[in-house]
Amino acid sequence: MPEPRRPLISGNWKMNLNHFEAIQAVQKLHWLLPKDVYETVDVSVHPPFTDIRSVQTVIQGDSMELILGAQHCHHDDSGAFTGEISPAFLAKLDVKMVIVGHSERRQIFGEDDATVNVKLRAILKHSMTPILCVGETLAEREAGETEIRVLSQLSAGLDGVKAEQAASMVIAYEPVWAIGTGHTATAADAQAVCSAIRSAIAARFDAATAAAIRIQYGGSVKAGTTEELMACADVDGALVGGASLDPDEFAQIIRLAASS
Ligand code: PGA
Repeated sequence: MPEPRRPLISGNWKMNLNHFEAIQAVQKLHWLLPKDVYETVDVSVHPPFTDIRSVQTVIQGDSMELILGAQHCHHDDSGAFTGEISPAFLAKLDVKMVIVGHSERRQIFGEDDATVNVKLRAILKHSMTPILCVGETLAEREAGETEIRVLSQLSAGLDGVKAEQAASMVIAYEPVWAIGTGHTATAADAQAVCSAIRSAIAARFDAATAAAIRIQYGGSVKAGTTEELMACADVDGALVGGASLDPDEFAQIIRLAASS
């Protein structure tokens, strides 16, 4: 019997919370979460780059079970890339998970599928876990192209990735029209797309890899929508933006996921 997949709740803080605010947010979150919550759920926080060292120190200093994450990185280890962040430097800060291919990176900063793929492989090379984001725009959804779009982003993102690497990865299904808008996919829609993602993983690799890979839903997740999302067979957690900035709401989402 394969191990049951542990839910993963990830807080994507985007460009919010300076390092003082980030320290407070992490301390409050830790204080709000009973220790036994980590027996059934993994929790990652993804602060802005300037906060990472401070958050790392707090997590390690207080032996917190929170997983340190980042939101983005460059694909090379070092070089003439003004303003960019090396995945090697993130690994050195004990960052364990890195979001890659977020729709804001794709849409605002012009990252295409090929760029996402080289970053994803760089993250794997440094033994960190990529959270690969895929999702359709409203126009694609209305044209009935949700699955085509999502599965083509998935396929391109996984180019050159081996089954054993994929098995430990995370895919985040984030419909672009649901991010930061207050609109969420219905649980049935989220389940349908997450199930299509898992089938595509099985077809590309094998059944064991599909059974192991974790698939999150993201897009305006709140405490009020967590239970129905977590009840979906192929939804293994959530990538939470706005609601993760409020430790009370985020802790509630985590508690609900832990008891799902
Ligand atoms: P949101 O963001 O929860 O604010 O919609 C989710 C995300 O962008 O990862």
